Amino acid sequence: MTCLTKIPYTDISQQHAAIKEKLLAAVERVIDHGKFVLGPQVEEFESRFAQLCQTKHALGVGNGTDAIILALKAVGVGPGDEVITVANTFVSTVSSIIAVGAKPVLVDVRDDYNIDPRLIEKAITPRTKALLPVHLTGRPADMDPIVSVARKHHLKVVEDCAQAVGAEYKGQKVGSLGDIGCFSFHPLKTLNACGDGGAIVTNDEQFYQKVKILRDNGMKNRSECVAWSGNSRLDTIQAAILLVKLDCLKQWTEKRIENAKFYQKELSKLDSIRFPVDQPYEKAVYHTFVIQADKREALIDYLAQKGIGTKIHYPIPVHLQPVAQELGYKKGDLPVTEKQSQEILSLPVYPELSQENLAYIVQMIKEFYES
Ligand SMILES: Cc1ncc(COP(=O)(O)O)c(C=O)c1O
Repeated sequence: MTCLTKIPYTDISQQHAAIKEKLLAAVERVIDHGKFVLGPQVEEFESRFAQLCQTKHALGVGNGTDAIILALKAVGVGPGDEVITVANTFVSTVSSIIAVGAKPVLVDVRDDYNIDPRLIEKAITPRTKALLPVHLTGRPADMDPIVSVARKHHLKVVEDCAQAVGAEYKGQKVGSLGDIGCFSFHPLKTLNACGDGGAIVTNDEQFYQKVKILRDNGMKNRSECVAWSGNSRLDTIQAAILLVKLDCLKQWTEKRIENAKFYQKELSKLDSIRFPVDQPYEKAVYHTFVIQADKREALIDYLAQKGIGTKIHYPIPVHLQPVAQELGYKKGDLPVTEKQSQEILSLPVYPELSQENLAYIVQMIKEFYES
């Protein structure tokens, strides 16, 4: 079996080719009205995004990292506090905790790559202020036990939904399950801007008002400043682009899920590969399709030779990053996370992949293990 085209790990140009005219028209409308900062498209996007996330409020911010930083500040996390999260995540989940002056406390994950709720209670100290579960790969973390331990100990829950727009846990959208949900619209995300972008969602009026002020230099209105803060607003041009893409999101997500199901069906026959299966109570949106593979490095090379791009999310868990030395963790502290980091591999799963592409990828993986 041969595939004439190379299959990159991601290919945003294919997505854009299909909607380029609509994107250009949307940008043109913003250029024509000239309200580049907090213009009407930002408000329209916020209203539609809140609806999508089943929350009362949404606020557009500069990027996903700022969304987490602003959310932590809004729920009252500051210097001296501790926040419990995972090391199997993009580094910004953890660096956002550092950015507000707090201490990250890292616990291990389950087979589904998400925080293991059974380990949270043991990690709580009198300084713990919040839990920061990550819905990694687009699969919701097991939120019922997470929220219940948080309520028991009077902790806030900030959800890192950067990879999980539209994912559901027991019929409820991620972002609406804790106190504040944080999203990224980085170009590689499922709902993506043409540049940086992010949002927070919440049902809490107070947290909403706080983030609204904090994202805008602490300004309560045009003249009154009530908090020292910075500037992290979603650009009107990016909001206009996101509005166009919001119309496609359902279809894109369905195709991602379909692609993932194809992989699951085909690869479940291989003993050398493992991956999480969907639980009846969850809807995973497959931002990434992450397998755990024997002989991973050789598989990466083999697939590369066959024209197939792959990535590792993430090769070095945060607690073993050079910068994290000051946190005092060592190899062996988070055994599941560390084992996964040696075996995980993300396969292409974007909606524009053809059936021929998918069949070719599966065929090459089988060929690798059977040869
Ligand atoms: C899990 C996770 N958290 C946070 C972020 C940060 O988002 P951004 O790159 O928009 O700052 C990302 C994405 O990059 C992410 O994948």
